[in-house]
Amino acid sequence: MTEPQINPWSSTPSLDIEKTFAEFGIDPIAPVLAELPDVPYFMRRGIVLGHRDYLPIARAIKTHAPFYLLTGFMPSGHPHLGHLLLMKEIVWHVQQGATGCVTIADREAYAVRGLSWEKCREYGKEYLSCLYALGYKGETYFQSKNNRLKDLAFEAATKVNFSELSAIYGFTPETALAHADSVITQVADILYPQVEKGPAPTIVPVGIDQDPHIRLTRGIANKFRMFLVEEREGLVSVRAKNAPEGALEAVKKAFPHTKKYEGHVDIKDAACADVSAKVREIELSFGGYGFYTPSSTYHQFLPGLTGGKMSSSVPESFISFFEPEAAVRKKVMSALTGGRMTLEEQKRLGGEPEKCTLYLLNMFHMVTDDAALAEIHRKCRAGEITCGQCKKETAERVVAFLKDFKEKMDVAAETIEV
Ligand code: TRP
Ligand code: SF4
Repeated sequence: MTEPQINPWSSTPSLDIEKTFAEFGIDPIAPVLAELPDVPYFMRRGIVLGHRDYLPIARAIKTHAPFYLLTGFMPSGHPHLGHLLLMKEIVWHVQQGATGCVTIADREAYAVRGLSWEKCREYGKEYLSCLYALGYKGETYFQSKNNRLKDLAFEAATKVNFSELSAIYGFTPETALAHADSVITQVADILYPQVEKGPAPTIVPVGIDQDPHIRLTRGIANKFRMFLVEEREGLVSVRAKNAPEGALEAVKKAFPHTKKYEGHVDIKDAACADVSAKVREIELSFGGYGFYTPSSTYHQFLPGLTGGKMSSSVPESFISFFEPEAAVRKKVMSALTGGRMTLEEQKRLGGEPEKCTLYLLNMFHMVTDDAALAEIHRKCRAGEITCGQCKKETAERVVAFLKDFKEKMDVAAETIEV
């Protein structure tokens, strides 16, 4: 069996990002930033670097139209700094007007990582207290506790078969059924806000490793649609895909200048957006969902302090939100940097910030002021600062950040009931 190119459950995805983007049809984020009234630092700095269909989201932000934010965390260990970026993306989108919904993927942790429900609950609550500490306002749920979600997953499961799952995820006949179930549950997560509250664009910020789920969900969302609406020269065509009896007739009746053919209608003198909206309404009245195809953004991963991925299975690689101060200092002081072998070389050649896990930690989170970050970059390249000094300064920033954050988490934790 050939491994699929992006595997959401592999611990070491080493992906050539640009090649992967081009291959899978992910667009670079830079061109759509001009559409945003306020560009957050994580997009400006290219930490969030790719997207599918972000334009409808940017428009919704700009015009104050309704849209949803949905994303999730698998509670397979304590949350750590590697999760902070996604949490910030969540909070930012909600501040930009999104109705937020965050899922704790305990079904996935149980099925794929073999965690007990008790552990899932404990870790899940920790993730939620981080989110609330950042100021999140919105809905949250645990997959295992959400019956409506599970019903939706079952329905979505009628739209996918095992050969598709093998093609996307490399599943084999030995793959546990619960693993497949956790995949379709994630599909249901992504569609859930639209089912609960009605169709609207949905942004799903994720790491690149989650793209297979995004592709699968976008396909399933389309399969649920009863109609295909397309703009043609001078008219809007509405084609029935699996519309029940009478639904196409209802579309015809909704617009005055309409010609009905076998399986489709052509509408003249109507704006495509108006037709799309009406068609969605008709789908809902005939028992459908009228889904918008979900949009996504892709962020880079904060590298672990030892290089590679920041992963809860490699203790030296991550800093958890519960890390004692001494351990934080120790981990930062032993982190892999982009420094040279000797002090003389460092002074002569300068360091390599792009290869430095601490520079990236500063870029991702610890130095939000662009000028201050540029100064670190300059001093490093110019050999004006030693790694020892730079590590110490970074350690101070991390300690200060965690102290403040932990206090906020403790306050938030008291409000969480699961
Ligand atoms: N699979 C995701 C992870 O491993 C968690 C997740 C579950 C998720 N449901 C989701 C992410 C829906 C985005 C959208 O982290
Ligand atoms: Fe990294 Fe700082 Fe050393 Fe540069 S000086 S390589 S940024 S630790």
